[in-house]
Parts: sequence; C-alpha cells; structure tokens
Amino acid sequence: MTSFSEALRNATWGDHEAAEGESYLKELMGGRLSAAEYGEMVAQHHFAYAALDGVSRELADHPVAGRFVFPELYREPALERDLATIYGDGWRDRIAPSKATRTLVARIEQMAGWPGGYVAHHYTRYMGDLSGGQFIRMELQRIYGYAKGGGVDFYLFDQVGSLPRFKREYRSRLDAFGETLDERERERVIREVKLAYQLNTEVLAELLDAVRAVA
Ligand code: HEM
Repeated sequence: MTSFSEALRNATWGDHEAAEGESYLKELMGGRLSAAEYGEMVAQHHFAYAALDGVSRELADHPVAGRFVFPELYREPALERDLATIYGDGWRDRIAPSKATRTLVARIEQMAGWPGGYVAHHYTRYMGDLSGGQFIRMELQRIYGYAKGGGVDFYLFDQVGSLPRFKREYRSRLDAFGETLDERERERVIREVKLAYQLNTEVLAELLDAVRAVA
C-alpha cells in the first residue's frame, strides 16, 4: 500500500510543477530581478510565516498537530535578518502584505481549528523550503552575493541538523498521521495541500505583476 507521504506527493506533484514554474521564480533564478525585487518575496514570506509559526505555537500541545510543531523551523528571526540586510533598518516601514498574501494568511489562520489543514500548509511550505529551497538559496547567494547572517537566512536551517534525516522523520510522521485518517479525511488533506500550493503560487504571480508594473 502507498504510504500517506507518497500518496500526498504523487497527488500534488503537478501542483508543485506549477509553483516551481511560476514566472517570478524563473526571473529570480535567472538573475533578472534587483535585490529590492527579491526582497518583495521575502517581505511576503515574513507575513505568511508569522501566521504559520503563530498557528504552530497555538497548536504546540495539540495531540495530533503538535507532532508537526518544530520550533527549530520557525522562520521569523531569519526573515527579519534578511529584510534588514536587503532594505536596511527601516524595513518594517516599507513592507505590506499583498492581496494574495492576505488571502493565504487568512487561510493559514483558519487552520488553527483543523489539524489536517494545519499539516497541509506546514508540509507545503516547510518541506519545500527544506528541499528545493536549498537549491534556491545557492542560486541567490551566487546572484546577490549574500552570506550567512542576512539576505538568504530564510533558507538556512542551522538548528535542524541533517536535512535528509529531518525530512525522513517528517515523512514518517506524515505516514503515521495518515494511518489515523479515513479515506475521506485523507482526500480532504490532499485537497488542502493543493489549495496551499495554489495560494502560494498566487503570491508569486502577484509579485511579478507588481515588478512588471514598475518596470
Ligand atoms: C525554483 C523553485 C523550486 C525548485 C527548484 C524546487 C525543487 C524541488 C525538489 C528538487 C524537490 C524534491 C526534493 C526531495 O525529494 O528531497 C522539491 C520538493 C518539494 N517542494 Fe519544491 N521546488 C521549488 C519551489 C517550490 C515551491 C514554490 C513550493 C511550495 C510553495 C515547493 C514545495 C515543495 C514540497 C512541499 C516538496 C516536498 C515534496 C515531497 O517530497 O513530498 N517547492 N522541490
């Protein structure tokens, strides 16, 4: 029988392709955006992770969701260092959540009431950051010359130890979680992962629209 982590990956890999192929990321990875334009994505991450890590803190003692709460993953301090490096000390005054980010944040906050939905959003972001995010970090370091300490710290998971080992453990927790769900609830979680991909992709699409509007 296919494990839940495999089923989840198989059912949503097409959505991953759409996220990965989003034009903003192509422009970014191609070195065609200024540091300030890259910073727009970091700023949107700042709002999304404040919500995601906030819900994690709320659910830390939850018997099911709590298995997916890892304080060593929390991204806010790293994002603050990145924004200070990109925009300087006044960074807080120049960032605001976009419309797509406000939609994503509202959805994440709703997930405080549904452990399966929380897992869906947590998986979509953090497994991505721990996987393709590592490739993105190397590219960004090469393009902008950032070093550890600010700029791309969002993608650095210093307190996690071995990323492959962590991801194996994460997948085994997904599998154990899947065992507790009936078919209907498994499908519901998979649908939420698809929605999470879509909402995250819309944030990227909106960023590119904003960049093009200025150009
Ligand atoms: C340039 C952009 C991206 C690249 C090159 C990329 C690349 C990859 C690669 C190579 C993997 C597989 C790694 C492994 O099996 O260990 C992966 C996994 C993943 N990525 Fe991405 N990715 C990108 C963007 C994204 C985005 C924008 C999201 C979500 C919003 C995302 C979410 C995920 C997730 C959830 C996984 C784990 C899938 C699983 O094994 O269950 N990725 N990515």
